[in-house]
Amino acid sequence: MLADYYDRHAVTFIATTRDVDMSDARGRFLAVVPSRSDGPARILDAGSGSGRDALAFRVLGHVVRAFDASPAMVAATQSHAAVPTRLMQFEDFAWEHSFEGIWACASLLHVAYADLPGVVDRLAAHLVPNGALYLSFKRGTGERVKDGRRFTDMMAESLAALLNRSGVFGEPDIWESRDCRPDRASEVWVNAVVVKR
Ligand SMILES: C[S@@+](CC[C@H](N)C(=O)[O-])C[C@H]1O[C@@H](n2cnc3c(N)ncnc32)[C@H](O)[C@@H]1O
Repeated sequence: MLADYYDRHAVTFIATTRDVDMSDARGRFLAVVPSRSDGPARILDAGSGSGRDALAFRVLGHVVRAFDASPAMVAATQSHAAVPTRLMQFEDFAWEHSFEGIWACASLLHVAYADLPGVVDRLAAHLVPNGALYLSFKRGTGERVKDGRRFTDMMAESLAALLNRSGVFGEPDIWESRDCRPDRASEVWVNAVVVKR
């Protein structure tokens, strides 16, 4: 199971990703997360890993919840970000309320291509009207296995098609970015922010 990879490599993974600067993507996402009349916006960190972004959102005053498929990553998010974090997989995703924003940074890339439309629909169903979704993939085509992890890669066009297919989002804001980690500078990420109509 893929979560085993993150459990086995938890120390190294956390050390190499917790300080990655995601402020640009977070800013583009937060710019379209709607405010809520009766309290702070509710943001879900989906596949939260080290808890880096959950902490950043909480510090800004948002109500943050998180989930991850790896017990080690659930523990990491809870201890680093101090937000309630559930052990859950995208494929089984369900929640008792909707969110103003769902942040899926470098996490949906481990969902099989055939399962992505259903998972995106589930996430969209848990967004309020005008709620925002952020997602990112490594740039490429098709599915591959590397070091025991399965990846679904995306180009801007395939990501736009995935989002348009759901029929509930406005025009996606899609952009490419370089990996910030020193040893990964050649890797390109395809990012998207979309707003639910
Ligand atoms: C590359 S890491 C990204 C972590 C974090 N979002 C970040 O940006 O640093 C992928 C994360 O997704 C989680 N993950 C992988 N497959 C998942 C699934 N099917 N459901 C939920 N989480 C999953 C992993 O356990 C891991 O924490």
